[in-house]
Amino acid sequence: MSKMIVAIGSDHGGFELKEQIKAYLIEREIRFVDVGTYSTTSVDYPDYAHKLCEKIQSGECERGILCCGTGIGMSIAANKHKGIRAACCSDTYSARLTRMHNDANVLCMGGRVVGTGPALDMVELFLTTGYEGGRHARRVDMLNALD
Ligand code: RB5
Repeated sequence: MSKMIVAIGSDHGGFELKEQIKAYLIEREIRFVDVGTYSTTSVDYPDYAHKLCEKIQSGECERGILCCGTGIGMSIAANKHKGIRAACCSDTYSARLTRMHNDANVLCMGGRVVGTGPALDMVELFLTTGYEGGRHARRVDMLNALD
């Protein structure tokens, strides 16, 4: 896990959660790139989803974590990018299963929806759970064909 570089990003609605996630990554010595935003000043979430997705598409980062107020706007924006499979999660089961079954490469969460504790548990599962492949590979291939 420590070799992985994670991209993190948020709008103003997810800024505080992003900062908590940043502290978590620092504590665990997980390398990351923070694409912003860097304050609670109002910004537009599609801009930050785009900055983060570019990091994944270029190969600079393996996975991404996006936070906005609900996580929904970020997930909609991220999923418009080729090669991005973004999952908006509010529970640990979904965060684990979206790695195992969907090979999700971006986790989206709502800073106004989830508490810090559950959010950090989701981050941990998202970063440590492997993709199962097998019967899921055909379906993920089908998702990729929709790009
Ligand atoms: C910003 O107020 C809010 O709309 C945004 O953070 C997000 O929740 C959108 O999906």
